[in-house]
Amino acid sequence: MRASALARSNIALVKYWGKRDATLNLPAAGSISMTLDGLETRTTVEFGPWERDTVFINDEALEGKGLAKISKFLDLVRPGTLCADVRSTNSFPTAAGLASSASGFAALALAASQAAGLELTPQELSVLARRGSGSAARSIVGGFAIWHEGQKSDGTDSFAEELAPADHWDLRCVVLVTRKGPKDVPSTEGMNHTMETSPFYAEWLNTVRRDMDGAKEAIVQKDFVRLAEVSEGSCLAMHASAMAARPAVIYWNARTLELIHEVRSLRAQGKACFFTIDAGPHVKVFTTAEDVYGVKAYFQDHPSVEDLLVAKPGQGAELL
Ligand code: PMV
Repeated sequence: MRASALARSNIALVKYWGKRDATLNLPAAGSISMTLDGLETRTTVEFGPWERDTVFINDEALEGKGLAKISKFLDLVRPGTLCADVRSTNSFPTAAGLASSASGFAALALAASQAAGLELTPQELSVLARRGSGSAARSIVGGFAIWHEGQKSDGTDSFAEELAPADHWDLRCVVLVTRKGPKDVPSTEGMNHTMETSPFYAEWLNTVRRDMDGAKEAIVQKDFVRLAEVSEGSCLAMHASAMAARPAVIYWNARTLELIHEVRSLRAQGKACFFTIDAGPHVKVFTTAEDVYGVKAYFQDHPSVEDLLVAKPGQGAELL
């Protein structure tokens, strides 16, 4: 009744922003991402006749709401009344402010289901991971993942699958950490509030449906220019809808905006690069294997960059 799993983080190229069902974490639209090598969570789950679940993340015991969220997730696979001991570590600095929920819930879904004796298909695993955190559905899959919006109310058709394997296209993601500071508005809170109050939300959804086709084709054809157009457009439309919410949800800081301009000017100088930003102020720069050294060198000692990580396409979740 014990298993260990490893899963990697992912960054969306077409963003997920809004749920049509908050309990099942069903998305209002599909999304597309790249799984990131090296940004890993390793998790061990053991079920036993204990009184309560215990969860340690990077050797720190989780309590309160965080623990309750994991326990509720474990209820989906828990054998009878057994409790779980969960030990999880992230390979990437948590202080960097990068979301670890995608790799975290993907690793937990695989380790917990295996420890409970369930043999889930990759689709079922993705559905299970989705219940913990929407974007975790995509971290079950390696390379380039597409998370289907799905139609069914029970969510069984809303899972991620591989659009192309990790070795299909040697892209790089350079993560520019703009600050190690206060917490951002959590993604669920930000997306729910945008959906409820932003006059631009319906229009944002229209962009997603168009961008899904554009990004899919760009990835299959390895068309960097097209992917840059679609992906920056999706990111900016998501943030525009959040900024138009009342009151506004603004994830950017001054450095975020400065780095957006830097990426655009680097591109004008001929470097293959584009930016994307999630529910926080950090800027992720996608580039090619050819241009990654130039991009990295440019931002390495930039005054607006506190920390820099480089990732290539990674594999899907695996048992250890
Ligand atoms: O998986 P969640 O609930 O943390 O939401 C992720 C939201 C974004 O990172 C902003 C977009 C995405 O598709 O990953």
